[in-house]
Order: sequence, then structure tokens, then C-alpha cells
Amino acid sequence: MNQKFLQTLHKYNIKPTNKSLSACLSEPDRFESFSGRIGDLLLDFSRTSVDQQSLTNLLALAEESGVEVARDRLFGGQDINFTEKRPALHMAMRNDEALAVLDESTIRRVTDNKQRMFELASAFAAGYLPGKPDQVVRNIIHIGIGGSVLGPRLLIEALGISASPQVHFLSSVDAHLRKDLLASLDPAETAVVIATKSFTTGETLLHGRRVLDWMGAAIGREAALQRVFAVSGNQRAVDDFGVSQANTLYLPDWVGGRYSIWSPVSLSAAAVMGEGGFAEFLRGASEMDRHFKTAPLADNLPVLMALTGIWHRNVCDFPAQAVIPYDYRLRSLPAYLQQLVMESNGKSIDSAGMRVNYETSPVLFGEPGTDAQHSLFQMFHQGSDIVPLSFIGVIHPDHDDKEAHAALLANMLAQATALATGTRGLGMEVTDIHRLMPGERPSEVILLDRLSPFSLGQLLALYEHKVFVESVIWDINPFDQFGVELGKVVAKTIQPALENETETVPANYGLNAMMGYIRSK
Ligand code: F6P
Repeated sequence: MNQKFLQTLHKYNIKPTNKSLSACLSEPDRFESFSGRIGDLLLDFSRTSVDQQSLTNLLALAEESGVEVARDRLFGGQDINFTEKRPALHMAMRNDEALAVLDESTIRRVTDNKQRMFELASAFAAGYLPGKPDQVVRNIIHIGIGGSVLGPRLLIEALGISASPQVHFLSSVDAHLRKDLLASLDPAETAVVIATKSFTTGETLLHGRRVLDWMGAAIGREAALQRVFAVSGNQRAVDDFGVSQANTLYLPDWVGGRYSIWSPVSLSAAAVMGEGGFAEFLRGASEMDRHFKTAPLADNLPVLMALTGIWHRNVCDFPAQAVIPYDYRLRSLPAYLQQLVMESNGKSIDSAGMRVNYETSPVLFGEPGTDAQHSLFQMFHQGSDIVPLSFIGVIHPDHDDKEAHAALLANMLAQATALATGTRGLGMEVTDIHRLMPGERPSEVILLDRLSPFSLGQLLALYEHKVFVESVIWDINPFDQFGVELGKVVAKTIQPALENETETVPANYGLNAMMGYIRSK
């Protein structure tokens, strides 16, 4: 078992302090000492129980864990994805310095491919098929799952600057959504983007086949295939599917699915955001890369955020974390971060192949505010588990309803305050114990001046690097996802038995009773 992390915690005397959160909050300069800014993004972690001494100790932990060396290896294009023996260079999709570590022909391929993505996107935005101005495109069906859909969906909801073309998403293999969607669209005015890095993902390929059949039945298969575009790293499978190379954008194997928002996977989002908007999104992330790469650990926002995460997970023993964006445009951010955080750091084997004896990824979940206040917050205030929160707010909205925006931000700040101080900290006398809020519930607040392509790029890259720093400290690989494979294999053996009642499932799956029940219906 890997003991090193726990030994290092012990060595630096990293343990819960007796100081209450309310006491921490009343320290002079608390906000200045426990917050940081990069450009228009502010991270405030003053409402946690991390005090000055603990922070110093946590920074020593980061240093001893080799965060700086790992960061250089990441940006240097070394095989940081040690189980799959390859680099993790998604930053090369947005950052010229990271791109420069690749060989010349790869650089050319990535650059040409990005250019091609912008050509396709601008034709869609202008309302026609690339190179065919007489072929109308009013709708795009984007088919993909996990990292091949969550990023584009978030981008379009957050920053979908133009309403045309309309982008519709198909992900889960459930056909209800597809049927309703196809019934509402004209195949002769629709383009299809099939985003799948592996081009083997069952859900995506099934939707892809059905949508192609639907389109082919209306306009003929040849014409339909001209309306289908693929984003993938598996050219052979794309060829077999019938999509032309001219309609295919390349996704390198060193860009992981959950890190692919910066890549041509976002083709449909780029069509809606425009080339300028998408380039700004990349620039925001690149700015965060520069900060992460160069800032000393003590001033480095991804590092500070990761250390707060380690504090909550391993020192305070909190099992979960909630992300609550107080901006409806960011309603898909919790789903996006769920995959980023849990698929990356939901591991328990270290770099030496040993099982770790400490906790790694928290359970991450969330809902936008203020909706979440009417569902999740009861438990946050009075539940038996403490769930640290990440509040994300935007100072200047893109509407002019000042009253509504003031109410939104007031709710966010009120929740952060009330969770930390509880009723007593606010000087309220409560005699009925059921109505008492104990307080001492930590949160961090991230504030953006505006929600723009640039600030969203900064925010997502901040989370990516935070997850990376945690993985280094936990000594696990954040870039593989073997855990998702076994269920897929088992499903492949069950599916034929459900489709065709003469087939049986292997007895040792313990499924026969359930299969019998389903068949009896
Ligand atoms: O769920 C596993 C996973 O491999 C994710 O990591 C990935 O984002 C998703 O499936 C989709 O994979 P693909 O892009 O290969 O279809």
C-alpha cells in the first residue's frame, strides 16, 4: 500500500485545526490572504478552515509531492499518462508554447485541422454545407457522449452567441429523444456531427447509424453522407462508416475525451460562437496555462484550489463536493466537472501499481443556483455530512434586469455566509434546536467579471489544472479511464439476450432472475 502521501501529511503536521471557521473569517486580512486573482477571475477560499500555518504546510506537501516537476513534464509533452504511456497535451490545442513541443508534422496537422474546423464552422454559421452554398443547413445534430458532448453542450448554453444554426444533442442510447428530435427536423436542412475519439462507442455509433438511415431514406444515402461530419482519432473506422476524409476532423490520442473541449470536438459550438469567440475561449485557457506554468506555488490558483480540495478530502474527511453556478448559462457546468473530476481522479492505484490507503476523488455534483437552494441546500446546512461548496458567480450579467441580478448574487453570498457562520455566528438567538444552523460549512467562491469566451476558457483550464495537481499529490493517473470498460463488456453479452429471447446470459452474472422477470412482461 502507498503510505507516502499520509506520511507526508504527517511530516508537515497537516491536520484539522481547532480554530472555528467563524474565527478564521474574523481574522483581519482574511480575504486578502486567502484569495487570488488572475485577470478578471477571482478565487476566494477564505470561507474554509485552512489557516496560515496549514496553508504553509500544504504548500510544503505540494512541493514534496513533486507538483512543479510533474507540471513541467505535463507541459513538456512527456508520458505523464503513465498507464497508457503517452503525453496528455490537450493544452497544445489552445496554447502555442505547448504545441511547440510536438514534432513538425504533428504541429502542421493540428494547425491545419484547426483551420479546417473554422472553415466548416463558418459555412454552418452561414447556413450551408461547406463548399456547397446551395445546400442549406439550419440544424446540426451533434452525436457524442461523455467528453464528446459535455464540452460543446456547455459552450453552446453558456456562449451560444448566435441562434443559428440550431444545435441538438444526442448522447444516451435512449431512442425516445432521438425519435422526437428527428420528427421535428428536415433532413434536407440538417448536418450531423459524429464526435467520438475512438469511433467505437456503442451509443454514438447506434445513434449515428439511425440518423444516417433517417436522412438516407429522405434524400438518398450518397447525399446524406455529404451531410455527415466526423471528429475522431480512428480514421479507419470513420472510413468504414462511410464519412469522407474531407468531412473528418482529426483528434489526436494525446487529447483525452474529457479534455477535448478545446479540439475539433467543439465544431458545432464553434459554428455558433464564431471563429473569434472560439479563439477567445482558447486564449482564456492559454492564459490560465501560462499562470499555472509560471506562478510560484503560493500564488498559483490551480495549486491553491487543489490544496483546498486535499484539505477537505483528506484532512477534514469530507466525501463530496458540490458545484453551484449562480448563472443559468452555466447550468451544465456541474455535469462537465463531474466527468472531469471523477473520471480523472476516481482511481485508487498509484504510479507504482500499489493500492492507495487514502481517499482520492470526492463525489462531485451540483445544480445551478438559486434552484439548488430549494433542493440540495437543506442537507448542506443541516445534514450529517459536510459538503464543501464551490459557488461560481458572474458580476456583470448580459441583461439589464438589475433587480434580478442583485437578487441572484445576494443569494449566493448569503448562502456562503450562512453556511460558514450558522445562526449563532450571525448573532441570532435560536431556542428550537431544529431551527439551528450549525455553520462551520466551508465553501470557495469563484467570481468572473463577465461570462465571456475568455473567462470560461480560464475557468475550465483552472479546474483542469486543479485536478492535475490533486492527482500528482495522490500519485494517481488522471488521464486514463479503465474503470468505464467492464460495464460495456458485460452489456455486450446481455444485449443479445434482451433483443433475441432465445439467447441466454452467462449464468455467473447472477442475472437470470431479472432476465426472467423482464421476459415475463
Ligand atoms: O466513458 C468513457 C469515455 O471513454 C470517456 O472518457 C469519453 O469522453 C467517452 O467515453 C466518449 O468516448 P469517445 O469519444 O471515444 O466516443
